[in-house]
Amino acid sequence: MERTFAMIKPEGVARGLVGAIIQRIERKGYRIVALKMLRLTPEMAARHYAEHQGKPFYGALVDHITSGPVVAMVLEGPGVIAGLRRMMGPTNPQDAPPGTIRGDFALEVGQNVIHGSDSPASAEREIALFFSPAELTDK
Ligand code: PPS
Repeated sequence: MERTFAMIKPEGVARGLVGAIIQRIERKGYRIVALKMLRLTPEMAARHYAEHQGKPFYGALVDHITSGPVVAMVLEGPGVIAGLRRMMGPTNPQDAPPGTIRGDFALEVGQNVIHGSDSPASAEREIALFFSPAELTDK
């Protein structure tokens, strides 16, 4: 069964949106395989966002994701990688339609409340970065 990595970003946690976001994910039918709250170190943020190093927004991205606690999750379900991305909506919340997480809960690209893996390779890499195999639960 397909798995993906999702992370509620610091502003999502600070704004009390954890429950609302997880409720949408569970109602859709995706299974939460693992879940934890943590604060990323700059080193972990650099590993997580390695593909964006050198881009103009990279500094802002790392500063933002390390600014407070996040909620990290592994989700499972058929087509969950693309399915979660559809539920999230586009990166820029101003382009995100109502009914999507970013469309309903966010206004700015630097504060877009949730991250989701964009491909099977990213999902595998990000899951392994945040969770040990023993933390991934069985049904
Ligand atoms: S790219 O170049 O198309 O791959 O970039 P993109 O997919 O649009 O964005 C990559 C991640 O960077 C975040 N982002 C930002 N964060 C903070 N500030 C600014 N200005 C900014 N611009 C882009 C964007 O949300 C993506 O992070 P994730 O965690 O994947 O949502």
